[in-house]
Amino acid sequence: MSKQVRKAVFPAGGLGTRFLPATKVIPKEMLALVDKPIIQYGVEEAIASGIEHIIIITGRGKAAMEDHFDHSFELDATLERRGKHELLAVSRGVSALARISYVRQKEPLGLGHAVLCAKDLVGDEPFAVILPDDVIDADPPCLRQMIGVFDEKGGSVLATQTVEGPAISAYGVLAGSQDPHNPRIYNCTGMVEKPKLEDAPSKQAIIGRYVLTPRVFELLEETTPGAGGEIQLTDGIKALLKEERVYGYTFEGKRFDAGDKFGMLQATVEFALKREDLGAKFRAYLKGLPL
Ligand code: G1P
Repeated sequence: MSKQVRKAVFPAGGLGTRFLPATKVIPKEMLALVDKPIIQYGVEEAIASGIEHIIIITGRGKAAMEDHFDHSFELDATLERRGKHELLAVSRGVSALARISYVRQKEPLGLGHAVLCAKDLVGDEPFAVILPDDVIDADPPCLRQMIGVFDEKGGSVLATQTVEGPAISAYGVLAGSQDPHNPRIYNCTGMVEKPKLEDAPSKQAIIGRYVLTPRVFELLEETTPGAGGEIQLTDGIKALLKEERVYGYTFEGKRFDAGDKFGMLQATVEFALKREDLGAKFRAYLKGLPL
């Protein structure tokens, strides 16, 4: 088994109901954050973290993602003819980003099932999972930080952040304790998907970045539907925990839930303010608003 994390799985088959009506026709992964579809942020993070092969799990109505990462012959030819070289470089850059494979998830049976769809393409090696809704602004990239922890510890690593109050029920939540030597590492002893506040074993919520060992595929094959009647990735990792070590990792950086309207607004403001071409103008605009 290769020990290097070379492949990243992007579950992108979900319906995006939290963002209706925008996602009635457009896949939620294609919603623009400033000027880039949210999935492209995840793909760029994966590449910047050393990933060589991206596996996107798609579903019905998601073809726009494949077109986005492909060559656009007509667009490129038109830009070239018009002498729009900078835009041509942007368009070509997207299609040259990565080696990408697509697998269709034929039925929406849950996140665990979506990840399982990548089993044959991943094979017997550790791999990453990136949930494209979770856009993470971090330097070094969140996944790179996690691969560093995986290389050091040799066990699966889940990104976490502290979530206070009832909002915890929207997440997978870890049980365990903080590592005495490294406060960013959480030694997992259990986990539960979307617990009620009173049942949450801690405030350590799982965020959409994982580095997993391939044993999880076999365990997911045996996982029965859990929270929401779906095959949950959290339940597969909980089974993995009986055989191998699993760590939570409080990443350095800021996470935005761009699959949610409010989260997308927050991300839009913060990413726009950081942009060289837009930041100053946008800041002046915001300052002038009668808030
Ligand atoms: C999924 C996972 C959950 C995790 C969350 C992070 O839930 O099942 O464990 O905490 O992503 O964004 P979803 O948001 O798909 O309901």
